[in-house]
Amino acid sequence: MIKIKLEIKTLEMYKVVMFSEFKYKIKNLEEMKIFAKFISTKIKRNSKFIIFLKGNLGSGKTTFTRLLLNNFGISDKEFEGSPTFTIINEYPHNIFHIDLYRLVDKDELEYTGIYYYLSNMGLFIVEWPEILDISPNMLMRFEITKDSRRKVYVHR
Ligand SMILES: Nc1ncnc2c1ncn2[C@@H]1O[C@H](COP(=O)(O)OP(=O)(O)OP(=O)(O)O)[C@@H](O)[C@H]1O
Ligand SMILES: [Mg+2]
Repeated sequence: MIKIKLEIKTLEMYKVVMFSEFKYKIKNLEEMKIFAKFISTKIKRNSKFIIFLKGNLGSGKTTFTRLLLNNFGISDKEFEGSPTFTIINEYPHNIFHIDLYRLVDKDELEYTGIYYYLSNMGLFIVEWPEILDISPNMLMRFEITKDSRRKVYVHR
């Protein structure tokens, strides 16, 4: 009896760790830059690392990506902007910025060859990832507050 209780307790603790969510309040672009630098230290390179960026239009996903990639040697000038039309923007050192907003169904998704890209090593940052049938290493959800600050929820 005691043993079973202990097992359940352990399982609950495991769940808490698995679904831990952290909330960051970000006042302006300067703070977003600091936040992006912090997140860059949590990303494992030399493996496959997938980040999902969720949140409404204009909530800051592409801006965050630009600031994040600044920490991996990609300057603002080299940053190609939003891949809304190209779907995938590829950068040196196996870094991929993906935006699936425009895709309407899973057939079209397959057609982009995205799963081929995702089968390789690399850092994959995916905006509008809801259509993908994979799970990320990190999930971030962006929100705009009434005073146009940002809240970012991070699940790992
Ligand atoms: N703290 C902030 N963090 C991020 N962006 C901010 C912040 N404050 C203001 N902005 C502005 O908000 C806009 C965010 O646009 P961005 O393209 O990054 O959003 P998005 O989430 O990628 O939108 P979409 O869903 O259309 O791709 C930019 O113009 C940016 O300068
Ligand atoms: Mg965007």
